[in-house]
Amino acid sequence: AQNERDSLFIILNFASEFFKKQLFQSEEGKSIGLSYFKERGFNEQTIKTFELGYSLDQWDGLLKEAKSKGYSEDILEKAGLILRQENKKYDRFRGRVMFPIQNVAGKVIAFGARTLRSDKKQPKYINSPETDVYHKSNILYGIHQARQAIRNEDLCYLVEGYTDVISMHQAGVHNVVASSGTSLTKEQIQLISRYTKNITVLYDGDSAGIKASFRGIDMILENDLDVRAVVFPDGQDPDSFSRTMTSDAFQEYLKSNARDFITFKTDILTDGGKQTDPTKKVQVIRDIIESISLIPDGIKRSVYVSASANLLDVEEQVLLSELNKLIIQKQ
Ligand code: CTP
Ligand code: MN
Ligand code: MN
Ligand code: MN
Ligand code: MN
Repeated sequence: AQNERDSLFIILNFASEFFKKQLFQSEEGKSIGLSYFKERGFNEQTIKTFELGYSLDQWDGLLKEAKSKGYSEDILEKAGLILRQENKKYDRFRGRVMFPIQNVAGKVIAFGARTLRSDKKQPKYINSPETDVYHKSNILYGIHQARQAIRNEDLCYLVEGYTDVISMHQAGVHNVVASSGTSLTKEQIQLISRYTKNITVLYDGDSAGIKASFRGIDMILENDLDVRAVVFPDGQDPDSFSRTMTSDAFQEYLKSNARDFITFKTDILTDGGKQTDPTKKVQVIRDIIESISLIPDGIKRSVYVSASANLLDVEEQVLLSELNKLIIQKQ
């Protein structure tokens, strides 16, 4: 019901304000949370733009404060803010820096929370569960801060992580959202397509990131948007990479390294053109034809087939007939 959704928005906003207050005003928040963000290079303006916060390292920091303000345990639980074991209730987020996840309109609907410990005993990030207002497959982190810039630039950068969005925003690239480490969904692509039909994928420069970018590219093509991709040096993500250079140099890198998906895939699959083994080449061709077969628009398909024929040095007719076989199989 609408009433219940409204109560969730209210409690989530209350929690977000509480986490912000802890970050800027409590001794623990300042000495641990705020200094962590500063060490990562986030400036005060950036911290405010993304409404970052800190959850105290206590079992019931939020729970106590919320109850004293008259909020029920029931609504805290429905919002995903507290957990229950038997009859004992306690805060879900404890001793972590907090990244509120906002809907398009800027309402807080969930949180991501990063540990400050480097031991591997606990997950690096924990996130809110699905609730009546948070369906993670329908939302992209940063969309509220990015939507106007996406429209203005007619381009959306898609990254993996919270900190990638934040660092890029600070580096002057505001048209950026994150899939938050899960595979891209149709609903997320439709959300972007309200503002632009052009996506550039910037996933982490590791094998997981490359795999995810391949899946993401196929999803984007299938939904009839145009896609490009940028590779980062080994082990770098947009956040870490952007911090190795000036904002201007970073923006320049994005512009000059965004490749169409065919060049991007060919480059990676052939290890920058070094791999010339014919068996490998066959696999690359098949892989790219598979991706092209997902594109609904026949004109685009034929343009990409010509481009692939040139790039891969094969007869266009051969590619076309293989492509048509794939398309027929799918019908
Ligand atoms: N993620 C998650 N749970 C985890 C690990 C990752 O939800 N245990 C999500 C987060 O949204 C994270 C994204 O996947 O931002 C990308 O993961 P990763 O690259 O490991 O983290 P970074 O965003 O690079 O975070 P950091 O730079 O703080 O290490
Ligand atoms: Mn706002
Ligand atoms: Mn990663
Ligand atoms: Mn990172
Ligand atoms: Mn990362």
